[in-house]
Amino acid sequence: MNLQQPDLSVRLGSLELKNPVMAASGTFGYGREFESLIDLNLLGAIVVKGLSLEPIPGNPPPRIVETPCGMLNAIGLANIGLREFIEEKLPWFQGLDTQVIVNIYGHSIDEYGELANALKGVEGVSALEVNISCPNVELGGMVFGKDPEVSARVTEKVVSNTDKPVIVKLSPNVTDICVLARAVEDSGADIISLINTLTGMAIDIETRFPKLANISGGLSGPAIKPVALYQVWQVVNTVKIPVIGIGGITDYRDALEFLIAGARAIQVGTANFVNPHATLDIIEGLRGYCLEKGIDNINDIIGSLKT
Ligand SMILES: Cc1cc2nc3c(=O)[nH]c(=O)nc-3n(C[C@H](O)[C@H](O)[C@H](O)COP(=O)(O)O)c2cc1C
Repeated sequence: MNLQQPDLSVRLGSLELKNPVMAASGTFGYGREFESLIDLNLLGAIVVKGLSLEPIPGNPPPRIVETPCGMLNAIGLANIGLREFIEEKLPWFQGLDTQVIVNIYGHSIDEYGELANALKGVEGVSALEVNISCPNVELGGMVFGKDPEVSARVTEKVVSNTDKPVIVKLSPNVTDICVLARAVEDSGADIISLINTLTGMAIDIETRFPKLANISGGLSGPAIKPVALYQVWQVVNTVKIPVIGIGGITDYRDALEFLIAGARAIQVGTANFVNPHATLDIIEGLRGYCLEKGIDNINDIIGSLKT
């Protein structure tokens, strides 16, 4: 046993990470924004801001509100679009020694397929993360990820149009997340990540207007951690494919809870806004915990929950 250097590497199907810590989509820009703040090569993976086929300006401001132990956002999936990402952003990633995961979303099932197809064979993209928490124009604005049948069709579409591992990211805003997890696993997803934000709102009592121009937004940060942890644990016990835990992870202790519950890796979102070093602090914390407990491989912790 080499106690000086515990092995933090994890494997999620064909996706290999040097450690289980990733930066979550929408909270880390296109990676480069953090270049002067942290050594990006130390990360397990970077998940880039959600990309659509065409650029999207997003919702009008105000689109972010601080809440007790968290934040509400209604960014409206603002992004530069796939073409600009491939031409302007992706080449820079080639010099990095970390996995790059591209988060995609479409307004129709075909659009998901087109996005996956456009990224087929593109070097430097390690996996696709499919965000199904957005309104489906084909179904009159209903969110894809609330309907198991539609989630399954999106998954099938992406899987049949890509040569990369497919991570499907689940929404917590459903009655039984296990039904959705089963549907995407049965449709060929390689990995499941969860949770995306929980829908909420806030009101300014002086003006009596909603604090977000969009009225509602997605709640993230420490406030959602217990909900996220429970849903991750439920999904881990439902599917056979690897699971990535997301939601309110701020320090290594939070990360450990998700790993013990059975998540094979974790993503850090809102914490990046508070502490740009959060991801690296978590990696160091995991290393320290393993050393302290005499654990030489992080995989020994994963799924070790006692009940
Ligand atoms: C400002 C902001 C933008 C986000 N944008 C995306 C996105 O484009 N695609 C996506 O799948 N998730 C997006 N998310 C959700 C996060 O990736 C993550 O699932 C969620 O915030 C819960 O994790 P956290 O509590 O660590 O932030 C966004 C979250 C925030 C706060």
